[in-house]
Amino acid sequence: MLLDFTTLRPRDAYAWMISTILPRPIAWVSTISAEGRTNLAPFSFFQGVTANPPTLMFCPVNTRDGTKKDTVRNIEGVPEFVVNLVPFALAQQMNASAAMLPYGESEFEKFGITAAPSAKVRPPRVAGAPVAFECTLDRIVHIGEGALAANVVFGRILVAHVSDTVLDAEGLPDSAKLDLIGRLGGDGYVRTRDRFEMERP
Ligand SMILES: Cc1cc2nc3c(=O)[nH]c(=O)nc-3n(C[C@H](O)[C@H](O)[C@H](O)COP(=O)(O)O)c2cc1C
Repeated sequence: MLLDFTTLRPRDAYAWMISTILPRPIAWVSTISAEGRTNLAPFSFFQGVTANPPTLMFCPVNTRDGTKKDTVRNIEGVPEFVVNLVPFALAQQMNASAAMLPYGESEFEKFGITAAPSAKVRPPRVAGAPVAFECTLDRIVHIGEGALAANVVFGRILVAHVSDTVLDAEGLPDSAKLDLIGRLGGDGYVRTRDRFEMERP
């Protein structure tokens, strides 16, 4: 079959994209409002983009009624955030935190997710995350308009908290010890414990 994305409705294009572009890593993003209320939400449109300077991106799309998600509202007010990585052990809490709570209500408090202070930015990090990147906002790139339009958030990585328990003999993170989860289509997920090796040419 040949899918014509130029004629697909946005919701159908979205369904095909999330069922084919996979597995996707998950950025579990903590932010804070100007009033000091914390927020936590997962985003699987997420990648590192360059190490010079160290930069990552994730993408909250607009809600179906075309409004910005709380994460974007917060970053526009306080341009700092933490990208926490999600281990299998925190899968349930991560999923719970995707609930659309009223603006200002904290997923940390509502779902009993333990926060820890960050070193350089105001939003707290997730205490149980094996890796947490503290970032300042580089820029937000808007693509499209209305429902599902993108607010691509680029963040400059300042520091990363890395749990000593996930390191290998060389001092780098071991993917099995990290045991991160990734997103598939539908309700599917994968774990970084399943792997194979290939030497690069
Ligand atoms: C695993 C997972 C991945 C998600 N990825 C995205 C994403 O990439 N972009 C997006 O806009 N929403 C994504 N969502 C939905 C948001 O987490 C959800 O809309 C959340 O309520 C947004 O929170 P906020 O309004 O507090 O920012 C994802 C949800 C889950 C469970």
